Amino acid sequence: MCGIVGYVGPQKAEEILLSGLSRLEYRGYDSAGVALLTPDGLRLVRQVGKIANLVQAVQRAGLTGHLGIGHTRWATHGLPTEENAHPHTDCTGRIALVHNGIIENHRELRAELVARGHRFQSQTDTEVLVHLVEEHYRGDLVEAVRRAVARAVGAYAVAVVHADHPEEIVAARQGSPLVATARPAEGFLASDVPALLPYARAFYFLEDGEVAQVRPGSLRVWDRHGRPKEPVLREVPWDPLSAEKAGFRHFMEKEIHEQPRAVADTLRSELSTPWEEGLSGLDLSRVEHIYLVACGTSYHAALVAEYLWEPLLGLPVSAEIASEFRYKNPALGPTTLVVAISQSGETIDTLMAARGAKERGAPLLAVVNVVGSALAREAQAVLYTRAGLEIGVAATKTFTAQIAALALLGLWLARARGALTEEELRQAKEELSRAPRLVEEVLQLGPRLEALAQKFYTYPNFLYLGRGLLYPLALEGALKLKEISYIHAEGYAAGEMKHGPIALIHEGMPVVVLYSADELPEKVVANMQEVRARRGILLAFADAPDPEVEELADHIVLLPRSSRRLLPFTFTPALQLFAYHVARLKGTDVDQPRNLAKTVTVE
Ligand code: G6P
Repeated sequence: MCGIVGYVGPQKAEEILLSGLSRLEYRGYDSAGVALLTPDGLRLVRQVGKIANLVQAVQRAGLTGHLGIGHTRWATHGLPTEENAHPHTDCTGRIALVHNGIIENHRELRAELVARGHRFQSQTDTEVLVHLVEEHYRGDLVEAVRRAVARAVGAYAVAVVHADHPEEIVAARQGSPLVATARPAEGFLASDVPALLPYARAFYFLEDGEVAQVRPGSLRVWDRHGRPKEPVLREVPWDPLSAEKAGFRHFMEKEIHEQPRAVADTLRSELSTPWEEGLSGLDLSRVEHIYLVACGTSYHAALVAEYLWEPLLGLPVSAEIASEFRYKNPALGPTTLVVAISQSGETIDTLMAARGAKERGAPLLAVVNVVGSALAREAQAVLYTRAGLEIGVAATKTFTAQIAALALLGLWLARARGALTEEELRQAKEELSRAPRLVEEVLQLGPRLEALAQKFYTYPNFLYLGRGLLYPLALEGALKLKEISYIHAEGYAAGEMKHGPIALIHEGMPVVVLYSADELPEKVVANMQEVRARRGILLAFADAPDPEVEELADHIVLLPRSSRRLLPFTFTPALQLFAYHVARLKGTDVDQPRNLAKTVTVE
């Protein structure tokens, strides 16, 4: 949610800021801006809309400099206007600041600052911070930022520059991500690694409460008590090319096609043991209930795990929406294992739900894609998905990678609790190792799914139905369609259709039904009959040629036959491709759908 970049060094700062912002655009894209230190002082360029608008505005302004900060915004307080776009400046115009997060006590702070004569130019919560820095500035920018953020309640990652400090960017973090790095004669910082991949491969991930100073060739860090700390840089495995589209029309299309690799890498790396060591400290025999906590697509992966794990472990397993779990006062303690699932590892609701669970004594495991992210640091053991960098805002390859990781984790837990023999474990792993090949087979259906999308992209409503393990996949299929094509799509448990959604079915209403010989096929056929009887249009995604399904369905997408455990790997890519082609044909912004952000660091 909002992206920050900062640069100091001999290169043209505006170029690095703009290219960094365009790589962070997935974090928000309603307005953007940069502050550059030029020979004429600190200059701002801000624009409503996407980074492309800002690039043109910077070119028109003809600005160049060697120190600067940039920001891409996802509005929380104040409309997406130029005045509300970051950077914000103090009363003197000599200090500029960018911020990601929410300052919860901004009203009190603003009233206080206005009473002391500060003039505000925006409706944002952020602007209070730059006036606070101004108040505390006595020649030492690090100290001024430290004192300013000490007054703020809420979440922030900030970067600050001052016209009198041509070689210094000061940053602070509390709850919102920030990475920094330095190389000879240069210093960089950003909300997230992708912004800086062309320039560096090793980064320092700031911790909550820390303040950092980035200068050419140097990175200094202080902890929350103001004590200096040696920043240990961490290598990230992603290669800069992963941030390119490589001939695909959209990142989403590319990432859908990267799934065989993402799943294979996740399965392979977890077949080796480092994460098991993290788990070995946990007394799993005492676990009585498992909660899987997540948001968005990761929540759908959690639901898949609930269906996979419960019969395997013989324990109650519940998938929980993090924003609800966090506040519902769940009964947690040493016998409740909490597994938090997040692509970014920074989603605030998931992070806070996980932290709350840990504070109440629950053992905490994390399934995360981003190395070094806040959730990874919070958990006692981390299972990394190896999906690589995902840029499309709609999650695709990270979803199937999460399912691969969770499927393995379920097996491991079952084994550790004595619910599986060594031989059963071996067979199950062998079965899972077929997943990448299955995904590849499904991807061959691209032209078939494109043709189907061609027939349906003008319909305004869709219903997606599934039972058992196919129910969370129906939810995910509907979510993909609605978030990228803006078509209203509802996912439902097929058996629940008769309790409400059936009222929506009429002549011409498309209903996507997921059918597998492994998940209550007769019941699903009965649900199809119910749709048919009301003249709905049936689109069946089926993994077995069944004469009844063929007779009932208006359109069938025949998927490769697998086994129950592997169903997510056949149905998911097909549903993703269908949604992708519908959105592409509608001409929406597939990689950056309106109002969404990839990483949601606000409640
Ligand atoms: C946002 C993204 C979704 C993602 C969700 C959870 O809403 O747009 O694609 O599934 O956040 O993100 P996480 O990083 O925690 O998996």
